[in-house]
Amino acid sequence: MRRKPFIALVLAASLTVGLPAAYAKEVTAPPAQVQQAFDNKIIKRINVDNIYNDIGHLSSKPRIAGTQAEWDAVQYIETKYASFGYDTEIQSFPFESYEIPTVSVTIAGDTIASDSFTYTPNGEATGEVVDVGLATETDLTGIDLTGKIALVKRGDISFADKVLNAAKAGASAVIIYNNTSGSLNGTLGAPNDAFVPVVSLSQTDGDRLASSLANGQAVSATIEVVGGGVLQKTSHNVVAVKEPTNKKKATDQIIVVGAHHDSVAGSPGANDDASGVATSIELARVMANMPTDTEIRFVSFGAEELGLLGSYAYVETLSQDERDRIVGMFQMDMVGSRDAGDLVMFTVDGEKNVVTDLAAAAGVRTGTTLTYGQEGRSDHVPFYYAGIPAALFIHSPTEPWYHSPEDSLDKISKAKLQETAEIVGAAVYQVARPDTPALERAKVAPKPVEYEKEVGGLQ
Ligand code: BES
Ligand code: ZN
Repeated sequence: MRRKPFIALVLAASLTVGLPAAYAKEVTAPPAQVQQAFDNKIIKRINVDNIYNDIGHLSSKPRIAGTQAEWDAVQYIETKYASFGYDTEIQSFPFESYEIPTVSVTIAGDTIASDSFTYTPNGEATGEVVDVGLATETDLTGIDLTGKIALVKRGDISFADKVLNAAKAGASAVIIYNNTSGSLNGTLGAPNDAFVPVVSLSQTDGDRLASSLANGQAVSATIEVVGGGVLQKTSHNVVAVKEPTNKKKATDQIIVVGAHHDSVAGSPGANDDASGVATSIELARVMANMPTDTEIRFVSFGAEELGLLGSYAYVETLSQDERDRIVGMFQMDMVGSRDAGDLVMFTVDGEKNVVTDLAAAAGVRTGTTLTYGQEGRSDHVPFYYAGIPAALFIHSPTEPWYHSPEDSLDKISKAKLQETAEIVGAAVYQVARPDTPALERAKVAPKPVEYEKEVGGLQ
């Protein structure tokens, strides 16, 4: 192996001070004061009250994907970006959502508290109840359930397999009861024409029913599942593009600054993730008239809470050329809670990349130490799988009101917002300002990573 000349080693060492390791070729890093002067062009312009006010506006109500409230948020965001002079686009995409049915279970004239399973078909059935244990294939060998209702205990195999096994034996409906305390709200995973209507009971009610049957008592039940079903809905991404200011001197590189505007049902989502969207909007305002040689795309994703649908839809629209030109994706999700921990950068594979390097360097310059971690669970994931260096910026550990009605404006900290805006703003500007060279291509080689949240209802 050829030894590096001494001069190159010195250069490499000086580069690590102010610039991320992936930074380009034979350039010496400017002295720290010069760098800070550049950061100040961003930092001094950030007005945290703008971020706070936008969170206030967006979090006046929950913004569930596919609803009017989401659309109102989308229009608010687009109008803001357009007001700074950006080209904007609303990118709509379809998705399917399951409408929860009303269910009832009546036994000997008494209505028993019951719950539904996602993807159960609608229907009504009356019949004799038969205890089939866990409804495994073995439990049902040689059993004819035609016209009967199967009573099944939770455990061992998936809810879907229990329903399919009972349906195959002829059952007209299925009751699954819990094997632990509390109510049971499961999912069958996906729609299936072979399913029959299925409802859930508590462990107490299920055990009682099972012991009546074990004592030889005949029990007849009526089950109703009404109003459930898969609906076609539409959600939207908002894209605002800052083109390089001087086309002749521009690099061909693109940076994506992302956040998601949808929230979960019942939560105003002030921190999750009006905070990220509002911070992106403020960074877009700050950068609107600044000279840049790199394209910056501010993207607000829809339907993140339903499985990162907006960011997957967005990445799908990217050509190979665009994928190659996107050098980094900064996702801000939950960046303003007064009750959460410090700012952490999460990557899908837990490895550092050019995005975390840039932000860590910005942190050094602005006086914040950032920590690292491994996490999916947000819109940086589809970018990672497209081979694009990406990171989630989030305060961790997260606040106790995450996904609750308490995720409201009064819990938002301006100091937390300010810090995030400074770091992400300074990191992006470090690349985008005209006097820094283009980044070296730093593709990630995505590998499958287990990040999916635990789906509690599958078994
Ligand atoms: N903001 C959260 C992600 C999050 C929360 C990351 C806490 C790390 C700690 C995001 O909006 C969310 O709720 N994501 C879903 C996953 C997604 C694939 C549906 C989640 O984590 O349940
Ligand atoms: Zn979120």
